[in-house]
Formats: sequence, C-alpha cells, structure tokens
Amino acid sequence: MALLSRLLSWLVPILVVLYAVFYWQVITNRKYFTNDVKLNGKTTIVTGGNSGIGWWTALDFAQRGARVVLACRNLKKAEDAAKEIKMRTGNSEVVVRHLDLASLQSVREFSNKIIESEERLDILVNNAGLARLQHRAKATEDNFDLVFGVNHFGHFLLTNLLLDLLKKSSPSRVVTVSSSGHRYAKEPMNLTREDPAVASLLYPHLEGYKISKLANIQFGRELARREASSGVVSVSLHPGTIYTPIWKNAMTDDTVWWKVLYYILSPLMWLSMIDEEAGTQTTLHCALDDSIPQLSGSYFDNCQVMAPSALAEDDEMARRLWQVSCEATGLKCTSTN
Ligand SMILES: *[C@@H]1O[C@H](CO)[C@@H](O)[C@H](O)[C@H]1NC(C)=O
Repeated sequence: MALLSRLLSWLVPILVVLYAVFYWQVITNRKYFTNDVKLNGKTTIVTGGNSGIGWWTALDFAQRGARVVLACRNLKKAEDAAKEIKMRTGNSEVVVRHLDLASLQSVREFSNKIIESEERLDILVNNAGLARLQHRAKATEDNFDLVFGVNHFGHFLLTNLLLDLLKKSSPSRVVTVSSSGHRYAKEPMNLTREDPAVASLLYPHLEGYKISKLANIQFGRELARREASSGVVSVSLHPGTIYTPIWKNAMTDDTVWWKVLYYILSPLMWLSMIDEEAGTQTTLHCALDDSIPQLSGSYFDNCQVMAPSALAEDDEMARRLWQVSCEATGLKCTSTN
C-alpha cells in the first residue's frame, strides 16, 4: 500500500507534465488561417451551421461579407445561431433554411428552395456530421444507416442537386468535412444492396462513422475528378480532434453508462482537445485559400495537404461508391467520364 502510494505520488506528476508537453505541442502546432479574403457578393451554405465548427465557419464567412445560408434540422436553434452571427458581424445576410440530411425528401425540398431563391452558390460546406459510439440500429427515412445516411448519402444528393448552381457560379468550391477517423475503416466498402424484406438496412454494410468518413473523402476526390474542367473545386479535410457537441450527441444518446461516462470525461475532453475556433481553421483554409484550386481532390489536415488512408485513395472504389450513391438517392447520374 505504502509502495503504491509512493509510486503514484511520482507517477501522477510525471504523467501530468508529459501530458502538458504533449498538449502544448498540439496547440502550438495548430495553423490558423489568417488571409483576409473578402466574400462580398458571394453566397455560401454551411450544413449544420447552427453549432460547433459549422457555426464558427458561418461566423467567419459572415464576417467576410458573404451571404450565409445555415442549413439545419433544428430551426429554433438555427434561428438563434443566425441571430448571434448577425449581432456579432453586423451582416444581415444570414438566413436559415430547413435541411434534414436523414431524409432525401428534405434534401430535395431544401435544394429546390435554394435554386429558386439564390442567384449563385460560391462555397458549399458539407459540415454536418453524426457519430455514434456503439452500433445501434437506427435508420434514416430512406432506410440507410443513420450515420452513413446523414454523413454521406444526404450530402451526396445535396451537392449533386446544387451542382448546376455551383457551376454557374464557378470558380466555386465544395468543402467536405471528413475525419482522420476514416483511417479506422480497414476493409473495402461492401456496396451490396439488400432486399428490404431480408435486411433491416438497404445497404447493410454501409454504416457507422469511420466508413461514412471514408466515403466523404472518396466523394470529395471523385467529385473533383468529375468536375476537373467545370471550375467546381472539391476537397475534404480532417478538422482536428475538437471539443464540439458531436461527442455529447454521440455519448448521451446511448446507454445510461455512456451518459454517465460523458459527464465524467467531458472535463478531460475539454482539456485535451482543441477548441472549436481552432478546429474551424482547416475548413476556412479549404474554402478560402488561393492555393486550393490547384489542389482539387486533396485531403487536408491542419491547413495542409495530407495523404488519407490507402482505401480513401482507391479511385475504383470511389467510382463504384458514386454509382451506388446515385442509385441509393434516386439521382440520374451520367456515366463516369
Ligand atoms: C457483401 O455482403 C453480402 C451480403 O450482404 C455478402 O453476401 C458478400 O459476400 C459481401 N461481400 C464481401 C466482399 O464481403
């Protein structure tokens, strides 16, 4: 017992110091986007712009003079977020539109409204994301896994429906927020479609966070390839390990044990993760930096190009995913050129 306590009295301070050094490294190595590009006369859309890094992205765009559309599921929260952004920036061109990425019908309605009401679209940020810690069978309206459906299929359809507007406004950009979590996806995607009578999900193997984030990168690359000559630039990124509501949403919408664990761990998470403003910099870099048009198709981390996993760079799989995504979302797709 005495030995243990003596050991701990040494060990704990050493761990704290090591941790502080590590965290200092993380913080001081973070790059910030400092270019003062203006966005007057430009229109931007940020999915999930009511909270987390989506909100900070929207705030930054508004500060630069853009018209900003917050595409959100919860209108009340989105209105509050828009009000706060308007107050802080003095920019009145911040609007809220309803978008539920877990419903293809909602994605279509949203896109139709945008096409009717907006003259142009310069930057689309596919930012909204959902995570779940444990597998729990939840499906979207269209019978996709909830996480995969929101993170990939919803954004896939959204981007494609808005593509003509993006082309019309070119040079324009599509920025898709992925995650380094895609590296945990170790198997090629199984894109088999199942009979609904047999399986609970239409694409039973397309589920969960890591596969959805892998799909985000493949989508970003394939879009870049397809639009190489249209002036629509597409990139994806890892925003950092950030203390955002994604953790709370994932952990408290689970068993009571995860809930308890969340409240125990959240101070530690707050201490060990970068904050939301720091976590928005790579999105801003991708959306605004002059170097990006030459780097279409790339994946970014900490404001620089980074190689994603080998699976994420499998172009053949990206093409097949694109085809399957067309079938899944009912989109008429031109054959890959
Ligand atoms: C994909 O899933 C189907 C069942 O849904 C299975 O029959 C098939 O073997 C799987 N393919 C691979 C490559 O794992």
